[in-house]
Amino acid sequence: MINIAIFASGNGSNAENIIRYFLKSKRIRVALILSNREDAYVHKRGRALGVHSRSFRKAEFDEGKSVLDALQAYSVDFIVLAGFLLKVSQPILEAYPDRILNIHPALLPKHGGKGMYGDRVHRAVIDAGDTESGITIHYVNEHYDEGTILFQARCEVLSTDSADDVARKVHELEYLHFPKVIEEAVLKVFPLPNR
Ligand code: GAR
Repeated sequence: MINIAIFASGNGSNAENIIRYFLKSKRIRVALILSNREDAYVHKRGRALGVHSRSFRKAEFDEGKSVLDALQAYSVDFIVLAGFLLKVSQPILEAYPDRILNIHPALLPKHGGKGMYGDRVHRAVIDAGDTESGITIHYVNEHYDEGTILFQARCEVLSTDSADDVARKVHELEYLHFPKVIEEAVLKVFPLPNR
């Protein structure tokens, strides 16, 4: 089995959707959830689906060792950030080159960067008067929201839309596309053996 770890900071609805998707897979599974918040709802979602989860402090994450130990203990091959708010630290980037994907709830390079997450992003889209938003799935590098873009999908933003309306449309796109894009990216690194 190819093992994925999901890093999440909050609610974890994407994490749950990804776990459920891979429950049907014979090759890939979500082996571990990691969070910088002990009280994040994602832990409950993981537990309910039989996925172990752990939390860590920011200092531990930046230093790398204990998080890398946990990833190794679960033989993690690939990392997915799903609503994760910290910048990925150098030791983790080095241990997983081109093996960390993030989802951002807007069409990068617009509305990205430090502090741009969740509803703040949707409000920025509305404040800018944008007529569309969407999702961006990209590889993670040492800068916020700047790694190579792998996939984007768009949705319409109406002048009457609230941030919650945009969030709903964006979440729909996330649930539909993110697991499949993860699967493709993972299988590119670990292709099916030739028969
Ligand atoms: C998702 O919309 C994700 O794209 C966003 O946080 C939300 C988490 O929702 N990520 C970012 O804003 C990262 N910059 P969830 O916890 O319900 O999956």
